[in-house]
Amino acid sequence: MSKYPIGWYKFEESKKIKKGKLYTINRFGKAFVCFRSSDESVHIYDAYCPHLGAHLGVGGKIEKDKIVCPFHGWKYNTAGECVEIPYCKSIPKRAQLQSYPSVEAARGIYVYFSEDFRKPEESIPAFLQKPDLDFRQLDSLQIDWNKYEKLSEIAVNSKFPIQAKGPGLFISQESNSFKDFQMIISGTPLNDQVLDLTFSCSIDRNLNPFQKMKFKSTAKNQVEKILQHLL
Ligand code: FES
Repeated sequence: MSKYPIGWYKFEESKKIKKGKLYTINRFGKAFVCFRSSDESVHIYDAYCPHLGAHLGVGGKIEKDKIVCPFHGWKYNTAGECVEIPYCKSIPKRAQLQSYPSVEAARGIYVYFSEDFRKPEESIPAFLQKPDLDFRQLDSLQIDWNKYEKLSEIAVNSKFPIQAKGPGLFISQESNSFKDFQMIISGTPLNDQVLDLTFSCSIDRNLNPFQKMKFKSTAKNQVEKILQHLL
């Protein structure tokens, strides 16, 4: 059985993935490659070429929205299908890169992770894609993987109004003197020992700079309280 629950996790910050470059990213104890295509969408795959297992992120490149394997030059389109093999007319059926569903929202890239490459059974929470909300990262740290259980526990029983929205996503409803807002807590396992934890908050784009500042300071205080409870 998989060590990691199936579902949505934050994969990377949007700003770190630029168009036309191939990135290697390690999560869930394994290597992935990802890139942003010319239509701005982000694509995530297993890092190893199905031909003879070369690591695509070591010397591989993007050419016209296709990943080119550094070893024998097989080319894969955004769906992960091999579409070109140098000096060869037929393409074997098994020449398919394993890909993972992803969504970009709230300044982050989210991946639906399952070890057997399932399709998502649910979407990421709708408010993450609301155009009138902006999202700001407040804190980010790496903690011991065994704290994951505790994060799930505080989501069900404690003084914090936190709801689990997936194995790697927790939402906390907060308020200050102006308005309610949401805090997003994402917990993504890097491997079976390290959990990458990030805190962000939603900010109404229509607020003035002073109100936005008040939001951030209320949210930062709440992050500190949650961390004291968690660590
Ligand atoms: S190992 Fe990738 S093309 Fe051969």
